[in-house]
Amino acid sequence: MKKIIVIPGDGIGQEITASAVEVLRKVDEKFKIGLEYDYRDAGGTSYEKFGTPLTDEALDACKKADGVLFGAVGGKKWDSLPVHLRPEKAIFGLRKGLGLFANLRPTKVYPELINSSPLKKELVDGSDLLIVRELVGGIYFGPRCESETKDGVEQAWDTEIYSVPEIERITKLAFETAKLRRGKVTSVDKANVLAASRLWRKVVNDVAKDFPDVELNHLYVDNAAMQLVLNPKQFDVIVTNNIFGDILSDEASVIGGSIGLMPSASIGELTSLYEPIHGSAPDIAGKGIANPMGTILSAAMLLRYSLKQDDAARAIETAVEKTLADGWRTADIFTDGFKKVGTDEVTEIIIKNI
Ligand code: IPM
Ligand code: MG
Repeated sequence: MKKIIVIPGDGIGQEITASAVEVLRKVDEKFKIGLEYDYRDAGGTSYEKFGTPLTDEALDACKKADGVLFGAVGGKKWDSLPVHLRPEKAIFGLRKGLGLFANLRPTKVYPELINSSPLKKELVDGSDLLIVRELVGGIYFGPRCESETKDGVEQAWDTEIYSVPEIERITKLAFETAKLRRGKVTSVDKANVLAASRLWRKVVNDVAKDFPDVELNHLYVDNAAMQLVLNPKQFDVIVTNNIFGDILSDEASVIGGSIGLMPSASIGELTSLYEPIHGSAPDIAGKGIANPMGTILSAAMLLRYSLKQDDAARAIETAVEKTLADGWRTADIFTDGFKKVGTDEVTEIIIKNI
């Protein structure tokens, strides 16, 4: 048996993970994987029950699992809590606790949704890129000071630190992933200004020597941000640090026309975690209109990366593509002339297409 911990979290997290589990049950029936599910809380939901956004027990359960399927966390209700009790704290607890060092965010352009892209059709048509973001180091986790007084003036600071092994680990994963795709890596840094970026570039060049059939180029992050909208088709795999990856992956996520469809994988030393890249959307929670496709496609990534079930993953992806091709749309991607459906209906249609 393969144990999946499902963490619905807050807001629409509940309904979209429920949809993804239904889809997983269907592929399991077909491909006989032997999936087992166990549920845990995180975020505001966990805070309400246990007084903390992530319990040690939940983290331990994730460590022992074969994969974690995560919905989303956050909501207005918990925004005024002290930082260590806020829902986002659960995300950092899981990232550090599970050693989720690499965040993979693919941007795929679905021909059916191309008209919703903010970019011109001919620019995005056929673009297919993957951002590999370092997720447990850099300025997110470096020493910081919330407030201190220097020469009578209040100041605050954060620190960007990267070690050689941290850079090597993420770079190797990026190159290995590129070998399975179109064989190109773009490393993004700010080596013209930052010391940590200069080390980053040196280590990336060293690692590249072990991958002679993968093409490598380097871009400064400001230029990379521009190139993403000028010519996204030039990219295959982009590897970058925690904060640049945070920024560029939001930018890349809209190229395809809908953030509601974008899955992600966070690869860990013990267990890996899979989640849609959109948030908990509390305004539409419980209304039955949320788009579950990002979570369903995240479940496909779980099958591919954690369980090595490539055929089952493909079956889900093809079913989602067919659902779109047949004209079914949830409210977030609906335009005139298409067929509007809610969360449950679209889930049923995807299941029928498997
Ligand atoms: C993301 C999010 C998080 C991050 C926030 C919620 C802390 O933006 O996963 O990209 O900055 O990493
Ligand atoms: Mg982000």
